Amino acid sequence: MYQSRMRRTFMIETTMHDQASGLRRLTNPTRTKVITVTGGKGGVGKTNITLGMAAAMAKQGKKVMVLDADLGLANVDVLLGLRVGKNLSHVMQGVCDLKDIIVEGPHGMKIIPASSGMRGMTELSMAQHAGLIRAFGTLEEDVDVLLVDTAAGISDMVLSFSRAAQDVLIVVCDEPTSITDAYALIKLLSREHGVTRFKVVANMVRSYREGRDLFTKLTRVTERFLNANLELVACVPLDEHVRQSVKKQRVVIDAFPKSPAALALNALANKALTWPVPRNPGGHLEFFVERLLVRDEAAGDYLSE
Ligand SMILES: Nc1ncnc2c1ncn2[C@@H]1O[C@H](COP(=O)(O)OP(=O)(O)O)[C@@H](O)[C@H]1O
Ligand SMILES: [Mg+2]
Repeated sequence: MYQSRMRRTFMIETTMHDQASGLRRLTNPTRTKVITVTGGKGGVGKTNITLGMAAAMAKQGKKVMVLDADLGLANVDVLLGLRVGKNLSHVMQGVCDLKDIIVEGPHGMKIIPASSGMRGMTELSMAQHAGLIRAFGTLEEDVDVLLVDTAAGISDMVLSFSRAAQDVLIVVCDEPTSITDAYALIKLLSREHGVTRFKVVANMVRSYREGRDLFTKLTRVTERFLNANLELVACVPLDEHVRQSVKKQRVVIDAFPKSPAALALNALANKALTWPVPRNPGGHLEFFVERLLVRDEAAGDYLSE
């Protein structure tokens, strides 16, 4: 009797708490900047760039969240030496809450592990869709910046996250396959998914000039054949400190704050913070997830035609 009353009180309080936070989010929601980091090819530095930017922003007091959608071996959690148990697929199945899977990284950044079981968003059931939206809706903390680290290749997931983000970073390095893979990704996104603006990061460059040349190589083909607008936003130097910090399972901006790569990543993070966040209601995290799914349904229809 006593226990059931306790449970009821607890449930009422929890519901009231949820409603209060829901109301606060409705009346005063934080607009979230969503940046997807991609590039087509593996090993070009996407994860290191995502984490470097995330750490630099979090260090400045921004509330940063990283969605680890990189399902390869060099995962965000591996790079940071974090232990991850459950992931986003468990949240969608209703096994646990989003807050239960969030792992804390350097400077309080929050990391959401996706999972290798979570393939294309198009493959999710309606219940899973609803579960995902609900999960982000119940998130208590506000998020200033959500960085999505994607896997190599051009999967459904990469396309979904690129479509739903406000900014798409394309990481390239000076290897022929990196350029051709980036081109293939930009081509697909611009021709079939309505993404036409891309921010290019030239990584592992030996000089600023090499970075510019790399960008020129890419724009030469995109300008000629595609309706895509590319902007070079950073040249990150090839820097042994990055590899050393990976070994230490730390982000380079913490392990070697004065290193050339750390300085470049800091500058990129500062620049990214000046990119405008949409003023419309689509700027909140729940809307990001809705956009992720709604547009994907459209893509699903398109694909099944
Ligand atoms: N600017 C850089 N200088 C030197 N090595 C780098 C740099 N960026 C990335 N690397 C190295 O390249 C490898 C791949 O980086 P990673 O971020 O895991 O790539 P991706 O996520 O694109 O697969 C790692 O071993 C990393 O240490
Ligand atoms: Mg990676």
